[in-house]
Amino acid sequence: MKLKQSIEKTIRPRDTFEGEFELPGDKSVTHRAIMFNAGAEGTAVITNALLGEDCMSTCQCMRALGAQIDIDGTTLCVQGTPRFRTGVNLNCGNSGTTMRLLTGFCAGKNIEAKLFGDESLSSRPMARVAAPLSLLGADVRTTDGHAPVYVSPAPLKGTEVELSVASAQLKSAVLLAGLSAEGRTAVTEPQKTRDHTERLLAAMGADIRTEGRRTEIGRSRLKAVNVRVPADISSAAYFMALGALKGRTLCKNVGLNPTRTGILTAFDRLGVRYSILSRQVSGGEETGDILVEKSDLHAISLTAEDVPSMIDELPLIALLCAFAEGESRISGAGELRVKESDRIRTSAEMIASLGGICIETEDGFFIRGKKKLRGGEVDSYLDHRIAMTAAVGLIASERGGSIRGAECCAVSFPGFFRMLEGGGRAQGGEA
Ligand code: S3P
Repeated sequence: MKLKQSIEKTIRPRDTFEGEFELPGDKSVTHRAIMFNAGAEGTAVITNALLGEDCMSTCQCMRALGAQIDIDGTTLCVQGTPRFRTGVNLNCGNSGTTMRLLTGFCAGKNIEAKLFGDESLSSRPMARVAAPLSLLGADVRTTDGHAPVYVSPAPLKGTEVELSVASAQLKSAVLLAGLSAEGRTAVTEPQKTRDHTERLLAAMGADIRTEGRRTEIGRSRLKAVNVRVPADISSAAYFMALGALKGRTLCKNVGLNPTRTGILTAFDRLGVRYSILSRQVSGGEETGDILVEKSDLHAISLTAEDVPSMIDELPLIALLCAFAEGESRISGAGELRVKESDRIRTSAEMIASLGGICIETEDGFFIRGKKKLRGGEVDSYLDHRIAMTAAVGLIASERGGSIRGAECCAVSFPGFFRMLEGGGRAQGGEA
């Protein structure tokens, strides 16, 4: 991520942490609601959208392609375009979801495009999206396996795609290309990953069906649909963790899509006391209020099959293990090495900076819990999930400390520190 400024944020420890929180909208759902509606017939209103930097990258890319998107607070009005601009440069910023989904989108819409991003995104693997798309006949070239990614128009033919990595981004790229391919396209994933793409495409009238790990899609035209975005469980997770460590928190209207609730599985094993109140279904996604209370944590073991539904929460789960009684092991999480930072290395370093014992393994962590962490100076490595996890660790620590590069929280959670300090609702403005 390109540094506009580097903020060193001081965080003081707290004896208790309590409150009721209205978290910003889900990042994955917001990306998809913007992108898919920009390629649909009609106009859609998206409410409670996340206006973090990643989703704004998607917004700017879809505008560059010709869609009209108006923003009023957290409400977006997206008007699909019947004809996309081609020969465009698309700046995906720090966002892997924008780059990988858009690669499939552009291949499907016969758009000539160059997709590029910041330093972190340019170091992440992109051959993994080019390869499955080329099975459909797409012309996608990477730069030595990385961004910039170049897409050129080519006729697409549906086929069976077997993914070797469990990644919702790759699955979504194939499905978006499959929407325009001749015949039928099927994508099978090694493990079930988040299914927001499948749900939204179905709601927009796509010919799509999923059975287990295999999703099949036929050529379809999409109709715009309004989306009410649930609060992001990945953002709520920091406040849920603070409830478990320091008091009592209630996170409102949180998305409870079962492909995203791995944090609750981890809570069950850690011994976190929580309950889900007022469950509802909104826009095809289940939501509820999550109440978490101070708990005595004990060590856990997580393996590959647990990972996809908690992938973005693993740095935080590793931190909770550092506060738990006993020795925890997390394995099968090698995908963490290719996120916004190498999250196995950066999580282990962040926990060590707080005074905890977290040892890197090739595909995960070994953590010796200490119940109390000293606190200290922590680097965010310009990775939003590391910065927010560090903030939780510092609040729960004995002495507190500071986070270098704290501004990167704005990638997924603008207003994070304001909410942390003031409680309640926050979006927009500084991180
Ligand atoms: C995302 C999928 C996940 C996740 C990312 C968002 C998505 O990545 O880590 O933050 O919206 O599809 P992978 O699918 O590559 O694991």
